This record gives sequence, C-alpha cells and structure tokens, in this order.
Amino acid sequence: MLNVAIVGTGNISHNHIQGYLQFGQRCRIVALVDIYPEKAEEKKARYGLTEARVYASHQLMLESERSLDIVDVCTPPYVHAEISIDALRAGCHVLCEKPMAASLEECDAMIAAQKASGKTLAIIAQNRFTDAFWRLKAALDSGLAGKICHAQVDSFWWRGHCYYDLWWRGTWEKEGGGCTLNHAVHHIDAIQWMLGFPSEVVAMMTNVAHDNAEVEDLSAAIFKYPSGALTQLTASVVHHGEDQKIIIQGDKARISAPWQAFASVSADNGFPQETNDLTREAQLNAVFHETPKLAWTLHTGQIDDLLQSIERDAAPLVDGVQGKRSLELITAIYKSSITRSVVTLPIGRDDPFYRTGGTNALAPRFYEKSASVANFSEVGAIPLGKDLDRGI
Ligand SMILES: NC(=O)c1ccc[n+]([C@@H]2O[C@H](COP(=O)([O-])OP(=O)(O)OC[C@H]3O[C@@H](n4cnc5c(N)ncnc54)[C@H](O)[C@@H]3O)[C@@H](O)[C@H]2O)c1
Repeated sequence: MLNVAIVGTGNISHNHIQGYLQFGQRCRIVALVDIYPEKAEEKKARYGLTEARVYASHQLMLESERSLDIVDVCTPPYVHAEISIDALRAGCHVLCEKPMAASLEECDAMIAAQKASGKTLAIIAQNRFTDAFWRLKAALDSGLAGKICHAQVDSFWWRGHCYYDLWWRGTWEKEGGGCTLNHAVHHIDAIQWMLGFPSEVVAMMTNVAHDNAEVEDLSAAIFKYPSGALTQLTASVVHHGEDQKIIIQGDKARISAPWQAFASVSADNGFPQETNDLTREAQLNAVFHETPKLAWTLHTGQIDDLLQSIERDAAPLVDGVQGKRSLELITAIYKSSITRSVVTLPIGRDDPFYRTGGTNALAPRFYEKSASVANFSEVGAIPLGKDLDRGI
C-alpha cells in the first residue's frame, strides 16, 4: 500500500484525488497540503479522506509524515521544482503537474535529484493517456503514413478575462508564461512524443484579449526537424469552441486526432486522382481501431502508470527528461518571440533563457496585471479541453 500526499489542493487536485481513489487496493491519501489549509480541509471532507492529515506547508508535512511514498505536486509552477526536489531528497517518489518547472535550470535540478534518490519522477501529460492520442501514435508508428512532412497542431483553448485575475496567473514571475506554457504544453508534449525533437524554432506571440495579464494569450510557432519536416503550432486561449486538433501529413497519408485517415493518389499529371488509396486508408483505420482501448485514461491513466512504475521498478511513460523536452520547446518559442530570431536547439546552460528568471527578465509585459483574487469559488473538477476520445 503506497502512501500519498497531495501538495496544492486547488482545481487540478480533484483529478488527482479522484485518480488515486480508483486504486484503493494499491494506494491511499494520507496527507493534504495547502498554504490555505481550509482548501485542504474542504477536499478531505468532500472525498471522505478520513485518514488524511492536513498541513500548511510541504516542509512541515515532510518532517511529520514518517511513511510517505508519493508526493503529488499540484501547486502553481513556480514552486514545482522546490517541492519536488525536497520530496525526492526525503526519499519519496514524485508526480508533478505540468509545466514541469519554471526554467530549464530547475528541470535539470529535478532530474539530478531524481537520479541521486533513485526514486521515480513523473510529469503530468495526461493527453498521452487518451485513446485519440494513443491510437494516433500507433498509426504513426506503423509507418503507413510514410515519411512525415508536416504537422498542424491547434492548441485552441478559450479562457474568459477574469481567468487571469487569480493571484498567481497572468505574471511572468509566478505563472511563468501564458497559454504557450500552461495550455499548449499538452499538445507540445504530444507532438514531441510522436515526431521527436526539432532542431530549430521560430515564433511570434501577442496578447489580444486579456488586458489584465502580463503574459501572451496567443502565439504561433514553426518547428523544423532534421528531416526537413515542419510543425506549425498555435497556442491560444482566445479560440471559441476550443476546436483542438493534431493533423500529421506523411508523403503517403494524412492522419489526425480527431481521427481521420486520408491517402491521396497522384494522377499522371501530378493532380490528385478522384479515388484515394483505399487500401492504405483501410490499413490505417485497422491499426487505429484494433489498438486496444486504454483501461484508464487522463490523470487516472497517468496515476496508474506511476503506480506501475513504482510497483515494477520501471521508468514512467513521462519522466523528467520527457517533461524537460516540452519546456525546452516552450522556452524556444519565448526566446524566438522575444529576440525575433530563429532559435537553434538545444538551449545551452550558458543561455540567459536557460536560467531561472531568465525569461521573466527578458519577456515583454503585454499589460499590467490589474487584479489579484486569492481564490475563486470552489466549482469542483475543471474542464481539461476537448474530449477527442468521443466517438472512438
Ligand atoms: N493537467 C492539466 O490539465 C491541468 C489543468 C489545470 C491546471 N494544471 C496545473 O496544475 C497546477 C495548479 O493549477 P490549479 O489550476 O489547480 O491552481 P489552483 O490555484 O486552483 O491550485 C493551486 C493550489 O496550490 C496552493 N499552493 C500555492 N503555493 C503552494 C505551496 N507553496 N505549497 C502548498 N500549496 C500551495 C494554492 O493555495 C492552491 O490551492 C499548475 O501547475 C497548473 O498548470 C494542470
């Protein structure tokens, strides 16, 4: 039985608590921590966590809990590294919410602490644990789409003006960035999982609808891969309807989430024939539909993966190195936008954007943060974007 502490009992903690509660034979929540302890008390009562002790700081919790196995970090990003490193040093496994940390320097410190402790460090990327993305990756890995030429990644979200009124959101210092960091991280993780790491990044960012926030609410980036392929990625919190998608174009077929396979065939003059390559489309559809459905999805799927990695002493699907890759691409988007240049990867340790506070020092303040709400009223679990598994 693995003992779990949740640190940060706000919005996303619902998804984590509900996930652990699915695996009552394998783990139990023994501690809840929040700088507003009444929020931890509320979760304790709401979920009937009678065994859980409530603390006002993770330091106090780590000093007091003697048989803790997992620290689950659900705080704002600027304290992810400090809490994760303290927990690893105290001999605990860590599951940390996205984005992994506030800088690449902090990511490397977390990876070093994981190596020194020999414990598991896993970073939340719950979209990998959806049938839509899992099966798209299976279809891609089948090679039936051919050589990859282009990907279109629409990380389209919508957030109202008051979203950025929460105290830690909307500032470079505490949120670490805007939608590129905090929303598109899911799709950036997915595309780097599927296509690998690009060699160059160019981008622009702006703020078009949230004049109460320092950070961007819209960015557009292009990734170039060593193969010559391109990814075009839009990160946004101004898209009504949140029509999120990933479309991958191979030289033999197009595949996507939401799922669609399409294979054009050339006529003698190079124009597309009226009839597609129906055999290839059928093969791709077969790979997609015959890939077994995931037993557990989203946060619950990733918590199952974490528990398995501990039980079997194996690496989790999304470890510290994977978590850092997403942050490196996001940092490259910020660096390119701010310096108005094409950024070559990787970003080295001597780069000002590598260091903690580097992006904060160099980023434009689109607007002044004009309000600071301590807490919004408790609404329960929040929506986590488009459900691309519908209809599968
Ligand atoms: N995976 C997803 O889809 C998803 C969705 C939303 C948020 N998130 C991430 O989850 C994290 C939290 O976001 P949220 O929306 O739940 O925010 P939130 O403000 O609702 O919750 C964060 C909680 O952490 C507490 N806290 C702050 N500093 C703390 C500290 N030092 N020690 C202990 N508690 C502390 C706050 O009081 C608050 O209750 C962020 O990293 C965010 O990016 C992930």
